Amino acid sequence: MNSALQSYAENNEVNTPRTTTINKPAAGYSVTNPVPHDHPALHGSLTPPTNVPVDKILNFSPGPTSLPPAVEASVQEKCFPSPSEKRLGSMALSHRSPEFGSILRQTLAKSREVMQVPPEYEILFTQGGGHGQFAAVPMNLCPTGAETATYVVNGTWSKRAVEEAKKYCVPHVISALNDDGSCTSFPSLDTIENEINPNSEFLYVCSNETVNGLELHRLLPTLNCGVPLVVDASSDFTSKPIAWRESNVGILFACASKNIGHPGITMVVIRKDLLGRANPFTPGVLNYETNILADNVWNTIPTFNVDVVGIMMEWIGENGGIHEMERMSIAKSALVYSTIDNSNGFFGTKVDKSSEYRSRMNVPFCVAGGDETLTDLFLVECWEKGIVGLRTITPFGKGIYLRASLYHGVTYDEAVVLTNFMKEFAAKHSAPKKVEKSTSLMEISTPLFRQSLDGDRPCAEIKFSPHKEYPQYNEFAAMSSSPDDVTASNRSSFTFYSPALTLPKNMKVNQYARVSHDMFSPLGERASPPPSLR
Ligand SMILES: Cc1ncc(COP(=O)(O)O)c(C=O)c1O
Repeated sequence: MNSALQSYAENNEVNTPRTTTINKPAAGYSVTNPVPHDHPALHGSLTPPTNVPVDKILNFSPGPTSLPPAVEASVQEKCFPSPSEKRLGSMALSHRSPEFGSILRQTLAKSREVMQVPPEYEILFTQGGGHGQFAAVPMNLCPTGAETATYVVNGTWSKRAVEEAKKYCVPHVISALNDDGSCTSFPSLDTIENEINPNSEFLYVCSNETVNGLELHRLLPTLNCGVPLVVDASSDFTSKPIAWRESNVGILFACASKNIGHPGITMVVIRKDLLGRANPFTPGVLNYETNILADNVWNTIPTFNVDVVGIMMEWIGENGGIHEMERMSIAKSALVYSTIDNSNGFFGTKVDKSSEYRSRMNVPFCVAGGDETLTDLFLVECWEKGIVGLRTITPFGKGIYLRASLYHGVTYDEAVVLTNFMKEFAAKHSAPKKVEKSTSLMEISTPLFRQSLDGDRPCAEIKFSPHKEYPQYNEFAAMSSSPDDVTASNRSSFTFYSPALTLPKNMKVNQYARVSHDMFSPLGERASPPPSLR
């Protein structure tokens, strides 16, 4: 029994796991031990085998998810005082007590400081999550319900938002959906300017479509028509700066459970001039003005959650602030995308490499074109190593895509562990066809390589004729025994940089034969792939 099945059996007190309901991998891929369909890893289990210590669990969940370990330690220390401390933790504090008042003030102040929220904006904590705000936004900005608002729809959450909004206003939709209903882009500024209804009370965008892996890395500038922007920043808040004034942000909301805390609280930032326009039927708990006038405690605020947001904001501030958060998000996501892009098609992602909207927060990816057997095996082997959260059970179905969410709780090193495993898995399962002659896929034309200078770096350019029978193999990443030397590839040549200008002895241009061991070191040995492959 392979180790995946073994640990499944041990954890489920079964001797022989059910192996009858298995699929065969698609032609060209190899799997010797498919996994049973009822394996917990395939159903989103976040509890890997007991041999993985809890602090070694790598949680790539799309939220709720793990907070950075230092934050979790502070939460433990601050919110759960030991008996000797003679104080109560935030869970036990009355929301109107001076102790909680101080926590609330500090959380608000730190959030304002970290996110550089200008003074003309109020910060509110609400309940009801992102969905609560799907309703609250139109209720608060459309006093009669007959007003219009423009919604950019380019993914799961903006679709949901517009459906909810239909109850409280008359949405006008700018759709970025493809003909098949999928979402892989964001409309250009020109399209928005052309298609917006200028009488809109607001323009609604979701700045990171969590399910679809689409992100606006910077908010839109102020539109010509002056309509204020409403932003659902639930899954990218605190991962980049917000140009509040330049983008004419009217309202921005973020449910906490991704980058700022635990579920049960949603932060809403509202420009003061937009207050006082709520539809009279707006429930008090969702009425921005009511809650701001009551200093955030119109009703019982989730005290513990506020405390956690405050601790998280402190951590962001102490760890380089918003620009450092963005730098880390770029580094982590670039690592994952480069692993996908350089896997010779073994891994794929929804949003094309050329897109400017690839999300840094959530990277959807498929294994072997969505092959179910390989995807299942990948999930189980990840789970065995303590890599969890790649498949979440959503109301929107399972689909062929897994998703690596890279919120602040995921460190760069954890992203390295994931990508090293992805490479290892791809190398093991990429169609290991035996090629008769190792150079037969590419016909290398003479001269074999040409020495030259690229800037002041010596390089050798290798030319080959694109293969006619296997055109897909022409798009390959060059390989050598020293991956750091490889910098570029395209359809008819690749450039190889080396101080010595000699090709490594075992250099091969046959990507099939060499991809596994020459290009990437085994798990754990290499901190990151060569810079050129990021
Ligand atoms: C971008 C975005 N908006 C809204 C929501 C919905 O939030 P909630 O489940 O808190 O209602 C989510 C949830 O994942 C999300 O990612």
